[in-house]
Amino acid sequence: MSVITCIEDLRIIARRRAPRMFYDYADSGSWTESTYRANEADLGRIKLRQRVAVDIERRSLATHMLGEPVAMPVAIAPTGLAGMQWADGELLAARAAAKFGIPFTLSTMSICSIEDVAAATDAPFWFQLYVMRDRGFVERLIDRAKAAGCSALMLTLDLQILGQRHKDLKNGLSTPPRPTLRNLVDLATKPRWCLGMLRTRRRSFGNIVGHVPGVESLDSLAEWTHAQFDPRLGWGDVEWIKRRWGGKLILKGIMDPADARHAADSGADALVVSNHGGRQLDGAPSSIEALPAIAEAVGSRIEVWMDGGIRSGQDVLKAVASGARGTLIGRAFLYGLAAMGEAGVTKALELIRNELDLTMAFCGRTDIRGVDRTILMPPAGANGER
Ligand code: GLV
Repeated sequence: MSVITCIEDLRIIARRRAPRMFYDYADSGSWTESTYRANEADLGRIKLRQRVAVDIERRSLATHMLGEPVAMPVAIAPTGLAGMQWADGELLAARAAAKFGIPFTLSTMSICSIEDVAAATDAPFWFQLYVMRDRGFVERLIDRAKAAGCSALMLTLDLQILGQRHKDLKNGLSTPPRPTLRNLVDLATKPRWCLGMLRTRRRSFGNIVGHVPGVESLDSLAEWTHAQFDPRLGWGDVEWIKRRWGGKLILKGIMDPADARHAADSGADALVVSNHGGRQLDGAPSSIEALPAIAEAVGSRIEVWMDGGIRSGQDVLKAVASGARGTLIGRAFLYGLAAMGEAGVTKALELIRNELDLTMAFCGRTDIRGVDRTILMPPAGANGER
């Protein structure tokens, strides 16, 4: 590969280097994938307003998410199985994020455990929580995140049950991959990945295996979620989790202003407008389409963030202009990770930062904290001036 200039370049390398079942796990949505596609397509349709002859010499992307200083309004989203994209993936991504100055969120369904990540980086990270039927296990997860010094808990509300992802079923997704002929043939073409995996002991769900009585191995994400995730999860549970955690709380998976009001009423600190990267309710609107109404409804009471479809600095800028105080990136960092490990995550972040910086400047702005919808077309106000 020649010079890497965009996230798409990283995606192409990732597809070559990661085993097919893990690449497909990341790069897919549920059912027809219409929402998955809409997340990117709707961001692409938004037009930016070019301004000229503005002094843009000094520029700043620095802002805050949850009161924490961030180098740009981007955090790493929780993603399951990141440690299967590249050996020890969560440790490497957490390190890259800490060096870059943005938050990293560890998924409940990660390969490296909470304790592994805490040992690998000095910066506090965020922990994403799924709610299981076994409330004792949920309590222990919360307590482990506290003990590891996590600075926020991100509760995912849109995955009580799992949307069907056709490719995962067809590929027989499991971790580690089962030694079927098809998998062995695939792995034979991924020597770098195999070597990395042979060198690490982290090959299964690190937060779960060995922490739940009776669970010695857990290879199927779909079977585990079906059996263990709690479909009864409600706002009463949010209250209970908030009390047990006692720190900053983020609610992820809000797509409707009515739910956003519940989120604001719950006393949580931030909500993420998210359709889970198009992986849950196929047919839901894109995140960027849902964002403005939610920001309008509750943006003064709770920090409103957005994820879904962000593959560039321009996408971050469009989300911020549409009312998001922060954004999360999932696939954009996973492609970097699967392509080149820690260096690939750093590369993804640099690409996003540089494009965000230049695009903001082309719009005639020098401080990300002042960006609002007046940088978008059609311009706000009768004559479009400001
Ligand atoms: C789990 O979070 C998934 O989307 O696969």
